[in-house]
Amino acid sequence: MTLTPDESLAIKLRDAVKAVSGVKLPQLPGDLAQLQQELQSRFVNSYSVAQIIDKDTTLAGEVLTLINSPVMKINVEVRSIREAVEMLGLDNIRNLLISAVLKRLFGNDLLYKDIMEHSVDVAFCMADLSEWVAGVSRDEAYMLGLFHNGGALMLATKDPHGYLKLFSQSHSLPLTVIEKERARYGSDHATIGVLLGKRWNLPVDMLSAIMLHHVDKCASIQNDKVRAYVALLKIANAIVSEISFGAYRGDEMRDYEQDGLDELMISEPIIREIRLALMSYNVKD
Ligand SMILES: [Fe+2]
Repeated sequence: MTLTPDESLAIKLRDAVKAVSGVKLPQLPGDLAQLQQELQSRFVNSYSVAQIIDKDTTLAGEVLTLINSPVMKINVEVRSIREAVEMLGLDNIRNLLISAVLKRLFGNDLLYKDIMEHSVDVAFCMADLSEWVAGVSRDEAYMLGLFHNGGALMLATKDPHGYLKLFSQSHSLPLTVIEKERARYGSDHATIGVLLGKRWNLPVDMLSAIMLHHVDKCASIQNDKVRAYVALLKIANAIVSEISFGAYRGDEMRDYEQDGLDELMISEPIIREIRLALMSYNVKD
């Protein structure tokens, strides 16, 4: 019996649910859920959006820090959420908010330290790389980078000792590690990440990119936007594994990165510049 793509996706997601049974998928905090509703309404009001964000002063501060950081490369200082909403637009603010919430939820726990540091660096590289891809904004690339290994956070919650060892292997063996995860958990962090992304209402193209970010060949992806997202993720993962984690760069990681580079036709001097930017970004941290 041959399964349709929808049927095989349903089976994969069912296996992912089983793999993390007992792990609570975090919800967006109440205010943000309200904000999602506001953003989805037909007559969205930027004033009330700014008001909802301002109610949570810590979150508002985190969003402003992000906006004024090298991630966004904005040349003027943005001092209020109202100003930020006007300058960047609502979709972009939403991406930065979700990024700030994810950082807050997982950024302070030692268990998630390696995964989160890796994701923050991938997010930074993604923002820089997005300059070379038409139709992908810095905040969108940043959010995807931050979110793409959400499934790894869930697996680390489920199996703290076992999973982190596997995660460290992903820096050199991006394809093998998915097979190992499937053998051990019956699913993998890419598929499990879709569950978290769905829960947070991420756009469908991002969900697909999360699912496919360990794919062997970008050419197998039909949707242009998803293919570009995955190519960005592959390049950013390779840069971060080498620069931030000092991982051994064997053939598997080299091929994984090269596939992304071929897809986006990004040249070596640009990658060198992004490596240097990541190094100075880490030093500042
Ligand atoms: Fe991954």
